[in-house]
Amino acid sequence: MRYLVFSLLFLFCLVNTSTQFAEAKPTKRYDARTKMCRDLTSRALEWDTNLWGKGSKQFRNKCQSCHSKDNSSGAPFVHVETYTSDGWNAFFTKRKSVCANDGSWNSFSDDDLQILNDYLYRNGDWTYDPNDAETCG
Ligand code: HEC
Repeated sequence: MRYLVFSLLFLFCLVNTSTQFAEAKPTKRYDARTKMCRDLTSRALEWDTNLWGKGSKQFRNKCQSCHSKDNSSGAPFVHVETYTSDGWNAFFTKRKSVCANDGSWNSFSDDDLQILNDYLYRNGDWTYDPNDAETCG
């Protein structure tokens, strides 16, 4: 009987934390370049910006091709949690990094960069904080 109670309690905690995680993901992103609000819960973006969608694939192909672990090209290892959501927005809006200015991004279209920004924003560091990034701005 005690085991049953403990297992149920454990299950309850598990379900509880996982729903908290899901709910706390940012749902909207203000895109400074287009001055538009990106609804990350809309049907297309919800799919494209989740962990197995287009944004994640593009990140692996376009960014992590250089920024992989232990690469020899001098690029630091970069992953979704390298920056917070706001950090990623600043990264893509200001474009101050070396690679954004030395031609490494030349083959990326505005749409590519936007979906990368959406994906990284939605899954960036601290995105499980319920007080963070629920608003658009
Ligand atoms: C052709 C290779 C290449 C590609 C593609 C590339 N980077 Fe870089 N990136 C670099 C190198 C090299 C540096 C380090 C430059 C230095 O510090 O001298 C860098 C620097 C960075 C940094 C470190 C911080 C900063 O501001 O410099 C971040 C974060 C970063 N890149 C993210 C990205 C993201 C996100 C993408 C995809 C949109 C990307 N990079 C695409 C080569 C690349």
